[in-house]
Amino acid sequence: MNHHRIASIMFVWITLRCSTAFTPATTRAYTKLTTLLASSNGRISNAVQDKSLLDKTNTDETRRVVSEKLDTNPPKGTRDFYPEDMRLRNWLFDQWRDTARISGFVEYDAPVLESEALYTRKAGEEVTQQLYNFVDKGERAVTLRPEMTPSLARMVMAKKGALPLPFKWFSIPQCWRYERMTRGRRREHFQWNMDIWGVAGEEAEAELIAAMVRFFEGVGLTSEDVGIKVNSRLVIGEVLNELGIPPEKFAATCVLVDKLEKVPVDAIQGELEELGLDRSVVEKLLNVLTNKSIESLRETLGADSKAVLQLEKFMSLCDAYGIQDWIILDASVVRGLAYYTGIVFEAFDRKGQLRAIAGGGRYDKLLETFGGDSIPAAGFGFGDAVIVELLKERNILPSFEESGIDTVVFAMNEKLFPVAIQAATALRKAGQSVDLILEAKKSKWVFKHADRLGAKYCLIVGESEYENGEVAVKDLKLGQQANVKIEELVSWATSQ
Ligand SMILES: *[C@@H]1O[C@H](CO)[C@@H](O)[C@H](O)[C@H]1NC(C)=O
Repeated sequence: MNHHRIASIMFVWITLRCSTAFTPATTRAYTKLTTLLASSNGRISNAVQDKSLLDKTNTDETRRVVSEKLDTNPPKGTRDFYPEDMRLRNWLFDQWRDTARISGFVEYDAPVLESEALYTRKAGEEVTQQLYNFVDKGERAVTLRPEMTPSLARMVMAKKGALPLPFKWFSIPQCWRYERMTRGRRREHFQWNMDIWGVAGEEAEAELIAAMVRFFEGVGLTSEDVGIKVNSRLVIGEVLNELGIPPEKFAATCVLVDKLEKVPVDAIQGELEELGLDRSVVEKLLNVLTNKSIESLRETLGADSKAVLQLEKFMSLCDAYGIQDWIILDASVVRGLAYYTGIVFEAFDRKGQLRAIAGGGRYDKLLETFGGDSIPAAGFGFGDAVIVELLKERNILPSFEESGIDTVVFAMNEKLFPVAIQAATALRKAGQSVDLILEAKKSKWVFKHADRLGAKYCLIVGESEYENGEVAVKDLKLGQQANVKIEELVSWATSQ
């Protein structure tokens, strides 16, 4: 049986299968066609031959389901990327990749699906409470990754010390969360991750933040648009120590203190009590966290406080990088992840209209929580949403309307189409992006199409030009048209 015949039978079959009115006649025709298909082509699925399925197809319920229109929305909280959105996304990723590359970071990746056990931390973090998790067909508790750092830690651990340290790696994972109350809040985002493993000193944090600043500068933002708040979790550690709170409460306390940025103390009173923190401890803690300069912290914690020494050293490194204008010391910055142990930081919009742009810190003990030996590490995560909002708000987001196509090629008639192929091939060999018009179209349509694409040129293969071995090339920006010899198209394209 030839392909056309199969195709036309398939068409009738599909039409019948999708039609809502199953009269006895159509049902008979359907059965006959199905049998015909089943005998003619081994690739038609076995299900079609299954008579019980045919019977099922005729129940009222299936008929209703078949005719119901597909919901064209992507799953709740997710996005489609139409070409224009994709150009924006690729542009942003290119900026991230470029920044990472010039700072000496190399790229890695991990699966978007991870074992849930990777995130079973008990400090009450938002990220572990909002896992997009499920049990798979093999009864495994899995989750779409909510963040990248645990995957990175897993990868480091898997190499059992065989990875040469230190290393500087980056990644752009899609991360997921499942929030029940999603009022327009998204359940996925892309997050640029930059991490340095194996460096114990604040040199790592300074190098990370300097790279982040380079990104901001690269997209046209200045230290008047964006600031980076910096603190050390050692500050909280020292205050808790002074108040006699045992170190095992440290992580959970940090997570709670981070929540206090968003909700009043009363809202988390219960959680505080559960932790055994009375109100006076919390009040003392919050008091210290109002400190906004090294001087006041030094006064509060003493000149030989480790936290103060650490922050002083970090600040002097930032001076050396020339990024001091971007940095603000702010003891109230804690960040919501349990595993941070030292310096923490957060990039924010100075106008104060948007959520945090990026955040990170040192997490020296993360491997210990997985039963491994600890390795010093620091890193940050930088989401794709807030930065785009900020760039739009400041009016410095480039336009992504143009498709990036250089030349639209078309033949005035069907006979000339092989010449158009030849012309398109020559331009493509020269590295141009070429949209070859594949159907008979009016030149008016072609120019409109080229305009919509934002193409630079239109190459027209016409009868009279072709007789001279030439084609017409119109510069769409200048509106000028000239003839080019067909055999000179490659050099024409390379000279553009
Ligand atoms: C710094 O913290 C101390 C201790 O709680 C507090 O008394 C002081 O007012 C704070 N200083 C500033 C400038 O916020």
